[in-house]
Amino acid sequence: MRSVLVGTGSALPKNCVSNAELAERVDTSDEWIRERTGITQRYLADENETTGSLATIAAQAALDDAGITIADIDLIVLATATPDNTFPATATQVQHRLGGKGFPAFDVAAVCSGFLYALSTADAMIRSGMARRAIVIGAETFSRILDWEDRTTCVLFGDGAGAFVIEAQDVEEGGAGIIASRLHADGEHGEMLYVDGGPSTTGEVGKLRMKGREVFRHAVTNLSSVLREVLEEAGCQPEDIDWIVPHQANLRILDATARKLGLSMDQVVVTVDRHANTSAASVPLAYDVAKKDGRIKKGDLVMLEAMGGGFTWGASLLRA
Ligand code: ACO
Repeated sequence: MRSVLVGTGSALPKNCVSNAELAERVDTSDEWIRERTGITQRYLADENETTGSLATIAAQAALDDAGITIADIDLIVLATATPDNTFPATATQVQHRLGGKGFPAFDVAAVCSGFLYALSTADAMIRSGMARRAIVIGAETFSRILDWEDRTTCVLFGDGAGAFVIEAQDVEEGGAGIIASRLHADGEHGEMLYVDGGPSTTGEVGKLRMKGREVFRHAVTNLSSVLREVLEEAGCQPEDIDWIVPHQANLRILDATARKLGLSMDQVVVTVDRHANTSAASVPLAYDVAKKDGRIKKGDLVMLEAMGGGFTWGASLLRA
């Protein structure tokens, strides 16, 4: 029995901001951002758009894609570092907005790897029999925690949401579903990427702080090692992979990680150019884009991977 991906959906804020527009209010340039990161634009939430509202749109789109309704769901796991409120969990509000009631709904926080943590958790609950059909969401409004005076970070991020519907299915060997997953964390490096606030410390939400170069170095090393672990667990080789859907942090990280595995950039789904880094939303958002534009097809072997603050990192291999 496996958790099989039966629907995907995504949501972006209405407001698209190009590098040139950003350069009107931040001391930066289109050229610098493009060369260092590959980003050309990002979507930024307005005051009426929140993590919860974007998550609800993405989740409803995933339900529609699967051809089912909220009545068919018995679990919601939502990954975010930018919840609507400190509590209740944003997942409970998404459940309510979708018209659901009673079944478990909770948030997980692993920042940019949050979606991998959420997916692995939902997959484990499905395989243990605790749930039959789950919505797994990654949703963020990082624009709310950016320091708009800090050009080294504020140009890198965007807002958005993505969602998967996964369900328990008995599958044949080589069939669809999540084949293997691995998660990791190492709190020693917490100060390299963090938010300088929180309910139990400053009482303020705080702003994102990052040592970009160090994060870059750790990202490439950790990602290539977790990808190899997952491949080994699944009994697969890098050349078996049809698509990598990575966390969309930076084009250079994507390139360096693909290179380490001996894969071509043609097999890497890239949306960082259009969406920037949407943290926990980036993997399901990118997957949804590549599925809807026809790149990811039924039967393809797809590797999802992410690394984020903590540090946390992880990967999942699935057959579409
Ligand atoms: N516009 C113009 N100039 C800038 C900007 C900007 N937005 N930001 C920094 N600079 C300047 C710096 O002031 C510096 O100038 P100086 O040489 O005169 O001092 C110069 O550009 C180089 O700055 P660095 O920080 O050394 O630039 P670097 O080449 O390391 O690139 C970057 C920075 C893009 C953040 C890179 O380190 C990176 O990609 N790191 C990975 C971090 C990341 O993606 N984090 C996302 C979250 S974690 C995750 O998702 C994996």
